[in-house]
Amino acid sequence: MSDEPVLTTHRDVAFDPETYVTMYYSRVTCEEGDMLTFFLDCLKNAFKSGEISGMKLLDIGTGPVLHTAFCAAPWFEEITLSDFDQNNLDFLQKWKDGKISHMGPVFAYLSETNEKGMEVDKRQDELRRKIQHIVHSDVTLPNPLVSTPVDGVVFDAITSSLCLEAASITIEDYVKTVRNLSSLLKPGGHLVITGVLEETFYRIGDVRFKCTYISKDQVQDIYQKEGFEIVRLKDLKETCSSPKYLGEYSDYQNAYVMIAKKVQQ
Ligand SMILES: C[S@@+](CC[C@H](N)C(=O)[O-])C[C@H]1O[C@@H](n2cnc3c(N)ncnc32)[C@H](O)[C@@H]1O
Repeated sequence: MSDEPVLTTHRDVAFDPETYVTMYYSRVTCEEGDMLTFFLDCLKNAFKSGEISGMKLLDIGTGPVLHTAFCAAPWFEEITLSDFDQNNLDFLQKWKDGKISHMGPVFAYLSETNEKGMEVDKRQDELRRKIQHIVHSDVTLPNPLVSTPVDGVVFDAITSSLCLEAASITIEDYVKTVRNLSSLLKPGGHLVITGVLEETFYRIGDVRFKCTYISKDQVQDIYQKEGFEIVRLKDLKETCSSPKYLGEYSDYQNAYVMIAKKVQQ
């Protein structure tokens, strides 16, 4: 019998925010091929022109981390963060209330070439101020924000990082999560998705969480069929010939950041 711990899901095991942040977000190596550096560079670029902007932004499956919202914040007035797990919502609320600070190296890295010239502390203050709601969400439901204060809101843009593949088991489930997200987005609005490709699990501490195994072609096909035009999709392997793999933390083969525009209802 294998010594590997069994695979579980976010429905069955509570999220451990501190361990997750320590494992994945406590340092930015700035090395080519590092997945976090790749994600941060892509997100910074995605938002720097102001092409993705509006009044209301939703981040879905935020977890305990804020790098996506940090990149988007200068371009939106009201930000809603959301997650399935109450531990993450509590962690985010503590950050907003100034009771904890984290992600310092990540925020510093993202502020290095900050187009609006704001310093890192001011950008954190701006983000804290613009976060208006921290709510429960479930992307597997036709209305992921049902019974929250933002139930019924249609957003100008939606961001999501490493959530959809962790929230679904099969490709059919994944398609439904895309459809569910799309229902929250206004026509012409943008989706910015950060994801992993061909991954079956990732770890938080010793706990291994299942992920939908999905290829780049499948990602593109699904979003197009669900009424999105893919504006840009950058993957780690095309950016770097020898990506550094985390190895024991997960078994991903590639990673991407995609900007897609909702062109059909
Ligand atoms: C791998 S973590 C990603 C966290 C963070 N967004 C990031 O980029 O590091 C996956 C996140 O998806 C959330 N999640 C899992 N199932 C979900 C669901 N059905 N609806 C909303 N969020 C979900 C988990 O609670 C967790 O915070």
